[in-house]
Amino acid sequence: MSHHKLEVKNVQFRYPDGHEAVKDMSFSIYHGEAVGIIGANGAGKSTLLMLLMGVHFPESGQVLVGDVQITKKTLPMIRQRLGMVFQDPDDQLFMTSVYDDVAFGPRNNQLTEAEVENRVMKALDLVGIPHLRERAPFKLSGGEKRAAAIATVLSMEPDILIMDEPSSALDPKSRRRLINLLNSFEHTKIITSHDLDMVLDTCNRVIVIKDGKVAADGKTFDILSDAELLDTCGLEVPLALQNCPACGASK
Ligand SMILES: Nc1ncnc2c1ncn2[C@@H]1O[C@H](COP(=O)(O)OP(=O)(O)OP(=O)(O)O)[C@@H](O)[C@H]1O
Ligand SMILES: [Mg+2]
Repeated sequence: MSHHKLEVKNVQFRYPDGHEAVKDMSFSIYHGEAVGIIGANGAGKSTLLMLLMGVHFPESGQVLVGDVQITKKTLPMIRQRLGMVFQDPDDQLFMTSVYDDVAFGPRNNQLTEAEVENRVMKALDLVGIPHLRERAPFKLSGGEKRAAAIATVLSMEPDILIMDEPSSALDPKSRRRLINLLNSFEHTKIITSHDLDMVLDTCNRVIVIKDGKVAADGKTFDILSDAELLDTCGLEVPLALQNCPACGASK
């Protein structure tokens, strides 16, 4: 299933105001991997995801999905394989009801209305918000919007799932539902998060970004237990790997 492979080759990207947010990044992500992209605020995580999705294009270097380079021409085909949950749910929700937002992608792919309904209800069930289907997205709470945004991507049944801070604003039960959902998703997933406990629970590999560059890339446990590395990158060891705050005993 090589078409699920994602390759970032010497990618460099600068915003129109001249700010260089991604500086010569290279890595490959293979089918079935669950990769956490972590780093301090402003490190370049969202910019990187937008380069993977073809929202931005590199100034130099290439992003490839399988053997196909992401360009304006190949984008429509590539977008059918990749689904991205944006950091800000307001970037994802624009219809007058949650149902129509979640139905938007499947309808665009010319599915029948019965198939669309099936996809929508399945996605809403997975994120636990079938009761919100008739509500206006812009009137939802932050966590409800996040769940709806995730559903808009799940209804597309993508081969590669990309999520930018998916657990932010979720209550503990919704966060746990998301973790279970991510763990049940068999294809490739790429997740940025400051919720390093969620990264620990869902990813087998972690890439650390610092100042627009890859600072480390390795197995989740090795990276997330490296207090010195995390500290130099503006991060902390997740709670699950910290010693007991009461007695100091290691876990
Ligand atoms: N539209 C823009 N124009 C200019 N600079 C931008 C723009 N968007 C982001 N940047 C800058 O690019 C850098 C990377 O931003 P990015 O949003 O990718 O960071 P991030 O790692 O996702 O941070 P966070 O953890 O806060 O979400 C930051 O220095 C940011 O100020
Ligand atoms: Mg971000």
